[in-house]
Amino acid sequence: MSLLDLFRRLVGLPTSASNVSDQVDGLDFALSLATAAVGLALIVYTIVLVRCGIRSSGPPPRLEGSRRSELGLAGAVTLIFVLFWVVGFSQYSEMTSPPADAETVYVEAKQWMWKFAYADGRAANDVLTVPAGRPVKLVMSSRDVIHSFFVPAFRLKQDVVPGRTTTLWFNATKPGRYPIWCAEYCGVSHSAMLGTVEVLSPADYEVWKTQDHGDGALRGQEIAHRRGCVACHSVDGRPSVGPTFRHLYGAERTLVDGRRVIADEAYLVRAMVEPNAEVVAGYPAGMPTYQGLLDPAETGALLEFLRGLR
Ligand code: CUA
Repeated sequence: MSLLDLFRRLVGLPTSASNVSDQVDGLDFALSLATAAVGLALIVYTIVLVRCGIRSSGPPPRLEGSRRSELGLAGAVTLIFVLFWVVGFSQYSEMTSPPADAETVYVEAKQWMWKFAYADGRAANDVLTVPAGRPVKLVMSSRDVIHSFFVPAFRLKQDVVPGRTTTLWFNATKPGRYPIWCAEYCGVSHSAMLGTVEVLSPADYEVWKTQDHGDGALRGQEIAHRRGCVACHSVDGRPSVGPTFRHLYGAERTLVDGRRVIADEAYLVRAMVEPNAEVVAGYPAGMPTYQGLLDPAETGALLEFLRGLR
């Protein structure tokens, strides 16, 4: 058993099952060691001073400061803090930069469940099935209040907020089932808002994938018609009441307030649930919100449809 495993046992950490979990535990271990060492040193030093005080008769000795040792001590402490920051920041960068080839899964949180929708139309409630050893990116939003997607075994946690999207990515290292918790108090059944990440070997995942069918882009097109999106947005580049869907996905947009944004998944989902927050220059505000009208599978399918038109 490695030192890190011993530490995990000691403080009761769950299994480590993602690309970042060992690093996070390592930093946690180093911080615990450093604080324990400083705490211990203080206790020993206090005991020594108290014993000296008890033994000596007469007035206590006057302690002279030493600029050199004070500077040295302050420098050493600063260095340790900076070191922790450097390690922590590099871990944070890795956690927040999903690789380009990550498979996208759309997550919708609602009181009190997790809904998952895949690009090809597969959908599931409360069970997120992913392949081991391949990056997976979650594009998450909430239908009602703030929730927080937390997989302790992955050492990853991200708030899920209504009216906007947040992302989280991971590379699960070993097949198994790992609990998902909601880590933000969201109402009476918050503690029951549980789910499972089912990590399958790549071969098993391919088999699982073929069990469910459905072409996301095709479904998205059907939804765009049924929900009336195409009444105001053309798919062939013609301007209409709203901007065309053609070449929209991933393009840079200039807004009425002069800001420039990239029409990525986050922007497009916002445009569906909060359409008048970021109106594209040259078009009137006035699109009705689709908040609560599109379920996550439909949102995912629409995004796939838009991606197909890029
Ligand atoms: Cu959702 Cu707590």
